[in-house]
Amino acid sequence: MDDPVETARQAVADYGTRPQRLLVVLRRIQQVCHHVPRPAQQVVAEAFGLPLAQVEGVIEFYHFLHTRPRGDYEIYFSDCVIDAFQGFEALMQRLCGRLGVGPGQCRADGRVSVDTTACTGLCDQGPALLVNGLPLGRLTPARIDAIAERIEAAVPVAEWPPEWFEVAANFRQPDKVLGSAWQSGAGLRAALRRGAEWLLDELQASGLRGRGGAGFPTALKWKYCRQTPGAHYVVCNADEGEPGTFKDRELLRHHADQLFEGMTLAALVTGARQGFLYLRGEYQWLLPQLEEALRRRRREGLVGRNICALADFHFDIDIVVGAGAYICGEESALLNSIEGVRPHPRNRPPYPVTCGLWGQPTVVNNVESFAAAALVAARGGAWFAEVGTEKSKGTKVLSVSGDCDRPGIYEVPLGITVAEVLDLCGAGDTLGVQVGGPSGTFVHPPEYGRRIAYEDLGTGGSFMVFGTGRDLIDIVHRFARFFAHESCGFCTPCRVGTQLQLRLLEKVRRGWATAGDIQELEQLRAILAASHCGLGHTAANPVQTTLARCPERYRKVLRDLEFSPGFDLDAALEAARQLTGRFGDHLSQE
Ligand SMILES: Cc1cc2nc3c(=O)[nH]c(=O)nc-3n(C[C@H](O)[C@H](O)[C@H](O)COP(=O)(O)O)c2cc1C
Ligand code: SF4
Repeated sequence: MDDPVETARQAVADYGTRPQRLLVVLRRIQQVCHHVPRPAQQVVAEAFGLPLAQVEGVIEFYHFLHTRPRGDYEIYFSDCVIDAFQGFEALMQRLCGRLGVGPGQCRADGRVSVDTTACTGLCDQGPALLVNGLPLGRLTPARIDAIAERIEAAVPVAEWPPEWFEVAANFRQPDKVLGSAWQSGAGLRAALRRGAEWLLDELQASGLRGRGGAGFPTALKWKYCRQTPGAHYVVCNADEGEPGTFKDRELLRHHADQLFEGMTLAALVTGARQGFLYLRGEYQWLLPQLEEALRRRRREGLVGRNICALADFHFDIDIVVGAGAYICGEESALLNSIEGVRPHPRNRPPYPVTCGLWGQPTVVNNVESFAAAALVAARGGAWFAEVGTEKSKGTKVLSVSGDCDRPGIYEVPLGITVAEVLDLCGAGDTLGVQVGGPSGTFVHPPEYGRRIAYEDLGTGGSFMVFGTGRDLIDIVHRFARFFAHESCGFCTPCRVGTQLQLRLLEKVRRGWATAGDIQELEQLRAILAASHCGLGHTAANPVQTTLARCPERYRKVLRDLEFSPGFDLDAALEAARQLTGRFGDHLSQE
């Protein structure tokens, strides 16, 4: 292991000490030293002018940063429900057995550590793992054995067969955003010819709403930010942490120029001079090609100083890589992460459009929103609005995974029914579909006429198909585990509520629960609703939406159908009564 102090000093020298560089410095130390030891933390704290406790607090927050050593080969299996149904658990046991290391542990010789992490964004080609940050999908027992052999022989990951690391694009159905011919700079030139107000009008006409899930109108967001005085920022949310979502992965790989142009258009409208792309830690393998796309745009005068040869149009983009925390997809937590502080969600209002990065007006949009905005500028709002519904214009890119013949990426007109999507991807007998990831909605066959649209089933893109052979309680239990793990712990209703929910579901899954436990699960919704942010607000969705539709699945596994409290005080006291021979008569007041 390299000297931690030297490594930290070098990282600071390479990346500098601006707050947005804290994560990359810590990641570099983690990469070289396999953890961030105390002496390295001290160097970082001093260089950034932060209290040591703050640096330690940041490290402890993220799943991919550690204060205790990890292995030379750092392996994380994706424990998304889809990877689980594709058999990752048996494969992880097999690898652990071959290497003599337990899940969640680092081997005594420091050679390898094996752990799980939330969805790695490869559900269309799982089961998957990350090894030293690189993705490895389509795992089989034979591949696992070959991996174990290479680790034992200390073969560097760079020398493993390159085809192991190939990630298929799986574009099954491109449409307006994925399928239109794109010419770099086309949107920008159109907007510069006609002006920022024209662009806002076109965005308005396009009906484009945020593709990250919440569906806020993009034109309004940019307009509000433009109207607020300050040093504006533009931020692209590429955190894509919702289990079952992977469409941004391919937008980033194949449509990065379009996305950067969308960000530059937002800068043109708001006057921002600096932008950030926040890339989830699980996608750090995309960093080199994203940086190359940015370099190309700089060479072409489409980003950087004097964009399109204009004297007063300057806008540059920095890429900040996260370190494994689902909550960083929540826009205000994301901003805190960029600022180098613990990424707890902020109080809202004020919203980022008026008070975002460093308290300045900030546009935060999803990858797909920016990519669509660039096309709207190039082709006009009416073109985009040709398809969709009254309230949901245009197309939506879906990540389809699970029990179907053709998992992958489908760009569909908004308003499409669930049945039509199931038809496209070749899904037969289904138990149901989880639309919008664990925080979304479970729909079952009688509802397959429902529509993917903001007025019906809104989604950031996750569309997980479950066949009739799947165990609904197992699915819900895994979602509950996800929320309990990803709760940032900032507020009590979510910190405690997600743990209680998990514990109750554990009872249900083991067949120990009673009707009283189900009642408690239902009541938890009210507690979680009092949470601080969207994670807590939606953490009860899996239970609520499945309980409403399939109560018989719960009833089938209950120990007791009648209402009974989770803890039977009288029964517990009976044992003591028998032992002591005291049956309460000594308490008589008569
Ligand atoms: C817990 C949580 C996780 C989120 N994760 C993401 C994400 O990974 N990507 C994303 O674009 N939006 C995510 N969002 C929504 C963002 O907060 C925000 O609404 C979005 O980035 C705005 O962009 P849009 O208007 O283009 O959708 C998340 C929200 C919550 C509450
Ligand atoms: S709701 Fe959960 S994730 Fe959100 S701030 Fe509270 S503890 Fe953190």
